[in-house]
Formats: sequence, C-alpha cells, structure tokens
Amino acid sequence: MDKLKITGGVRLEGSVTVSGAKNAALPAMAAALLSPVPVELGNVPMVNDIRTTRKLLAELGVRVTLPEDHTVRIDAGGLARCEAPYELVRTMRASVLVLGPLLARTGRARVSLPGGCAIGARPIDSHIRGLEKMGADIRTEHGYVEATARRLRGADILFDRVTVTGTENLLMAAVLAEGETILRNSALEPEVVDLARLLSAMGADVEGAGTPTIRVRGVRELHGASHRVMPDRIEAGTFLVAGAVTKGNIEILGAEPATLLSTVEKLRETGVLVEIDGDRIRVAGVEAPRAASATTREHPGFPTDMQAQYMAFSTQACGVSVITENIFENRFMHASELVRMGARIRIEGARAIVEGPTRLSGANVIASDLRAGASLVLAGLVAEGDTVVNRVYHLDRGYERLEERLGMLGARIERIH
Ligand code: EPU
Repeated sequence: MDKLKITGGVRLEGSVTVSGAKNAALPAMAAALLSPVPVELGNVPMVNDIRTTRKLLAELGVRVTLPEDHTVRIDAGGLARCEAPYELVRTMRASVLVLGPLLARTGRARVSLPGGCAIGARPIDSHIRGLEKMGADIRTEHGYVEATARRLRGADILFDRVTVTGTENLLMAAVLAEGETILRNSALEPEVVDLARLLSAMGADVEGAGTPTIRVRGVRELHGASHRVMPDRIEAGTFLVAGAVTKGNIEILGAEPATLLSTVEKLRETGVLVEIDGDRIRVAGVEAPRAASATTREHPGFPTDMQAQYMAFSTQACGVSVITENIFENRFMHASELVRMGARIRIEGARAIVEGPTRLSGANVIASDLRAGASLVLAGLVAEGDTVVNRVYHLDRGYERLEERLGMLGARIERIH
C-alpha cells in the first residue's frame, strides 16, 4: 500500500490549477445511463472513484472510453444489466447513484446497500422513499435494494433531511418519469446544479436546481450531450488551506470562487489574506492567524468536506477554535491522528475544541477517509520533520496527483510504493 512522506517546514509558493469536481463527475457519469446516445464529459478528474465508476458502468454493459485526458465518453446504448454489485458499492458509496437512472431507463435496478463507512452510518432511506413515491416497488433482500417500476410517475417529494446524492438520484429518476415531480428541501450544493445542467443539455426539463424546490417535467427519452464538469470546490479549498497553513503565498487557477465562499470567508476571519479575481484565488498566510470557530452545514454553509482540513489549520491559529460537525456523526477520525502529531484537540460529542497554536511534529499517521487524509497531509506540511501518511488509497479516490501538485508549489512530499 502506498504512503506519502512529507517533510514539513516549506512555505508553499506558485500556482496550481483546480481539477474537475469528483462529486459532480460521479453523478454525471451515472446520468449517462439515462440515454442510449453517448454523453461526453470534459474536465473529469482522473481519480480512483472515477475509475471505479467506469468499472461499474462497464459491468452494466456500458462502453466507457477516454478519448483524451480528462474526457470520458459514455455510451449506454448497450445497457444490458442493472446490478451494482457489493464489491463495487463497498469501495465507493456513490455507486448508489445508478439506482435512479437504471430504474428510470430500464424499469429495474438491483443495487447493493452501501452500509456504514468511516464517517457515519449514512443510510439511503430518503432515496428509497422518494422512488417509492414515484411508484417503484422496492424490496431489500440479501443486502441489496431491488427496485422495479413499469414507468416511474411524477410525485411531490419532501426530503426530511437534506441529502446531496439523494437529491441527485431522485432528480435523475424524475427526468424520465411520467408527469411532473417536485423535489422539496433539495440539496443546494453546486454539484446538484451541475448535474441539472447536464440533464438539461440531454433534453430534460428541470427548473429550480440550486434552490430548495426543484421541478421536473418528465420526458419520454433523452439524447446525448457534451458537458464540462465544474471545478472541484473542495480541492480548491484544500489548496487554500495549504497556502494558509504553511504561511505561503499561492494562486489557485480555474476555480469557481462563488462555490467556496464559506471557506474563503472562514479563512479571512482568521486574518489570512484571500483575493478573488475572476477564476483565480490568491491566498497569503499570516504569521499569527486568529482562531475562528466553524460549524459544518449544508451548502452554502461551511462544508463538512472541508472540516478536517480546517482542523489542521486551526492547530496553527492563536486561540480556541470550536469545530462543530453537523452533517456526519463520526467525522473526527483525523483528530486523534493530529493529536499524535502534537495538536491539542478535545472531542465533546459533535464538537472538536482545538487549542492553538501548537508545534506539530512529524509522525506515522493513518488516513481514515479522503478528507481526513487531506488534513494529515496539510498537518505534515507544517510539522517538524517527517510525516508518513498511511492508507493513501483514500486520498487517491478523490485528489488527482496531489503529491505532484503540492510538490510543484515547493512542498517536500514523495510517494512511497
Ligand atoms: N442521510 C440520511 N438518509 C438518507 C441520505 C442521507 O439520513 O437517505 C444523512 C446522512 O447519513 C448524512 C446526511 O444525511 O448524515 C447528509 O448526507 P448526504 O446524503 O448529503 O451525503 P452523500 O450524498 O452521501 C455527498 C458527498 C460527500 C459529502 C456529503 C455532504 C458525493 C458523492 N458525496 O455525500 O462527499 O460529504 O454529500 O456534503 O457527492 C467526500 O467527497 O469526501 C464526501 C464524503
């Protein structure tokens, strides 16, 4: 298993271009199942979750080709099967995104139940309830969700809690349903808006994505489309923190600043300088950033996917930062690893109380999930001596060539095979 070795103490400088958003590319690949005509996606990040999705689509009889770097062409004309097997869902929960499209296109879907993961229980009850309201017959047997429907019909659906992939799944199901679907209390995440843009380009009739109420008028069939995936706001945020925590000065190119304002505002609150100019964001760290508390919320609030990275930064800020995690019940696994590096962090239920600044020292640490891994890399960048981050496969699921790109900014980081 690969590891990353980081020798801390370098102020990062230079510029880095943001990749396409993993969490927008995944639903976009699932959406290609809705049409027998090929869909071409540009700006797809070459990360392992995309490779897993490619494998999943291939299992369904779908042709997925990579005509050029970061472009994926998906031809679901030969869609022959409708099962997402346990072996794939187990490695990537987002596989559940094929449930809505498969059911809408073929009238059948058999998808392994994802089960819990390192950050929480993560049920998919809202996905299932919504599909049932659209007329699907759903049974759970042998660890699989088995759904059938002659043709889904439009329904008025209220999510009892905001869910990103739940909104995406039902949106994809609704575009081919008979009649109108209203999705209330929908997720506002920019990735939902990106998916709606793709679906509209494929001929769907969708209104209101990015607001709590999405209206979809179902159509008989969709055609092909070509779509450029939005930039990754979490990757951009991770680079912002890398610049800030190392007291460096870096420029992030190709970002969509409007999608990461809460992260930008939080860093500004600590005194870090962040300047936005079109799709460029410049971040300059300061010698003594102030502690600032952060509470994760659904978009446009502070993202749970930035919480771990921000915690690494908080260890270097002056004062007490209270970090409250509202979205997932178990997303503080990085805290104990940061403590092993010398951080002062106390967990009280959903709150992590971080006292800073502390001198971090390099250690052997374990990435428990994708963002926890990013947090440990960031801590390693400021720690004294060498940090070895184990279980880098978590990072490889969602960051493209992270070590190379941090290396270009001056970080001393290498992959150990
Ligand atoms: N929830 C339910 N029932 C449901 C669905 C969700 O109780 O049917 C709960 C979840 O357990 C969680 C909360 O609702 O406590 C929010 O979960 P959500 O469904 O919004 O999360 P997700 O769609 O599974 C996506 C991202 C995550 C990101 C979350 C929150 C993708 C592929 N994944 O997950 O990304 O943390 O939204 O913003 O889009 C990551 O990239 O590292 C990552 C984990």
